[in-house]
Order: sequence, then C-alpha cells, then structure tokens
Amino acid sequence: MATKQMLHMNPGQGETSYARNSTIQNTPFSKTTIRSEKELHLQKTAQDRMKPLIEDAIKAFCGAALPKSMVIADLGCSSGPNALTLVSAMVDAIHRYCMEYMQPQPEMCIFLNDLPCNDFNTVAKSLGEFKHGHFSSSHHIVVASMVPGSFYERLFTSGSVHFFCSSISLQWLSEVPEELVKSKIPMYDSDEQLRLLNREIVANAYARQFRKDFTLFLSLRAQELVLGGRLIFSLVGRCSSNHASKSTQVWKLLAVALNDMVLKGVISKEKFDTFHIPIYAPLDKELNSIIEDEGSFRINKTMVHDAFHGTDGMLPSPNTIASMTRAVFEPVIVQHFGISGETMADFASAVERLSSSSFVEVEFPLVCLCLSLTRAR
Ligand SMILES: C[S@@+](CC[C@H](N)C(=O)[O-])C[C@H]1O[C@@H](n2cnc3c(N)ncnc32)[C@H](O)[C@@H]1O
Repeated sequence: MATKQMLHMNPGQGETSYARNSTIQNTPFSKTTIRSEKELHLQKTAQDRMKPLIEDAIKAFCGAALPKSMVIADLGCSSGPNALTLVSAMVDAIHRYCMEYMQPQPEMCIFLNDLPCNDFNTVAKSLGEFKHGHFSSSHHIVVASMVPGSFYERLFTSGSVHFFCSSISLQWLSEVPEELVKSKIPMYDSDEQLRLLNREIVANAYARQFRKDFTLFLSLRAQELVLGGRLIFSLVGRCSSNHASKSTQVWKLLAVALNDMVLKGVISKEKFDTFHIPIYAPLDKELNSIIEDEGSFRINKTMVHDAFHGTDGMLPSPNTIASMTRAVFEPVIVQHFGISGETMADFASAVERLSSSSFVEVEFPLVCLCLSLTRAR
C-alpha cells in the first residue's frame, strides 16, 4: 500500500474540499473564552509560522551571493490557497531583499510539487490568477511550473535548486510499514488488550519507516540543492518534553472515530483491521537525530509549536477539526472501505464528537515542528 498510488487531499473547491478546509475562516472555541471569526487551520497556521524562517534564510542566502536566477520549489503543495503561500512568501522576501540592498532582481523559477493524483487543475488555475495578479505587477521574470511526482524520488536535476519549502506534508510516509501488513497487525486493534500488547510493535514499525523515508528525502534534496541551498519545512510531530506524546500516533483521532463506527456496525471489522494510514509524527529529537545521521544538512533553527492551537493559543472548534480531518483523509478512507458520502458524514460526526478540548489536548499532544536547514555538503 504505497502512498503514491492512493494519496490526494479532497479535490476541487466544494464544501468538503481541502481548498475550503485548509485556510477557511471558522469559529474557534476555548475553555475560557468564546471568540469571533478567526483563522485557525493547522496548515495555514504552520505556513504563517514558517514565514520568519523563510525571511531569515533568504537574507542569509542572498547576502552570501545573490545569483542571477533562482529556483524555488514547494514539495507537497496540495491545491487551494495554501499551494502558493510559501513560494509567494519566498518571492516577496527576495524582492524585499533586493530593494533594501539595491541589488538587481534575480529571475525566478517556481515549481509546485505533489503526487500525480493531486488536483493540479485547481493548482494551475490559482497559478494563472496569481501570476497575473501578483508577480507581474511587482517583480521581474517569474516562471512557474508543476512537478507531479513523489518527494521520495528525484524530482530535479543535480545542483539546480536554491530553496525548498514544504509545509505539513513530510509526515506522510512512502508506504505503510510492510512488516505490519505481512504479520497482519492492525494499526489500532478494536480489542483493547491486543491493542496494548501490540502498541510498541506498531509504534516501532512506523518509526523505522519514517527514519528510512526521511533519510532518503534528505539525501535526494541534498543532491538537487546547490551547496548552501536551503530546506525549510514544517510537519506534524511530537515533543520529547511531553511524556504523553511518546506513545501517541498521529492517526489516533481517526482510528478511534473509525473504531466507533466498527462498534456500531457501520463499517466491517475485517476492513478496519487491514486499514493502515502511512503517516507518522516524529519526536523533535528523533527528527534532529535523523538529520545529523544523514549528514548533508546543518540545522539553522528548530521551532516547536502546538499543532492544534492557532497563533493566539486558541483551539479550533470540534466542527473545524472534523472538516479538516475529512478533507485530508476522505480519499484514503473511501478507497479502502468503499463507503458513501453519507457514511463519510457519519465519520466526520464521530470525529467532531471526539474532538472535545480534553481529548485533543490530553490524548493527542501533537506539535508542529518547523525547521530551517542549509545544505552543508
Ligand atoms: C496536508 S497536505 C499539505 C498541503 C500544503 N502544503 C499546505 O500546507 O496546506 C499534504 C500534502 O502532501 C502531499 N504528499 C504526501 N506524500 C507525498 C509525496 N510522497 N510526494 C509529494 N507530495 C506528497 C499530499 O498529496 C498532500 O497534498
């Protein structure tokens, strides 16, 4: 069950699409205050938190030697407004640097990457509108292209890229850990005793797969970057200082919601037992150790933020968490269980019921890890 063959976010721009559920306005709730409309989506918040890292990296890179042309790529761009946010922040930062230091603007080439099943039609439309509206008025030459393919493969020629960015995508693995599939160990056993018995085996298999995939990802990007080139990314992770997060899996909310549906007879237990989601949230120190072991990159900065809280510390509403979860996971769930839109609505209701602040904060202590790296060799 490889990610490449099955993964994409909910396409288009409808009610349940990723485009509508990764940045839209929604009403958050908090234990103490009810606030009015605010942007609180995990992905949008992660991108906002990456912007200072982008600004610093551009200044340092351009300050060392400003090339005549620069290549920038976003890996795992998806579709909708977020697809262009980071590359746009980079182009703007380069533009500001050149104005401030009275340097000639470099020509820029932008690449947007995602898996081939991604909704590239929507990306192409946004690119067209964006290029005419934004780039043509304020910048020199900016050309843009889309690159369908897996970031666990070579995507660019050697030494051709100056900046890579990636937001909330690298927690996706290249495939489900094969050893679990072969030994028929479910991701989340409905039987609590068996679940506790296999918990370590499942966690270790996912951790090993992540190490293998992320090591490959780093070595591929190191080949594609110029020496001194930058890689700035965010992903869903766990924090070593929080004891509870040691045993947490990023798919727990989903698994508990689906298990509820098994117990109610809405989906079959046999199907649920063979369902795995190729996704893993690493501990911050685990990520650092993989980067050090792989050896191509120097870590400039690591930032750890609450994953679910907005920049103002507020949690999104259970309804927002449910819509976001549906937009991201509907295609993989439908593909495996073969269920209808109505059953997906039941799934979203189950996620909403579970997403009380105590479940999210206590049982699901995920963080957003943001890192800035430089290719050092
Ligand atoms: C949660 S979305 C994040 C999208 C966007 N960067 C954002 O911040 O809103 C994760 C994206 O990563 C993409 N993805 C997952 N595995 C990938 C791979 N191996 N290669 C390229 N893209 C991948 C998915 O298709 C999806 O569009």
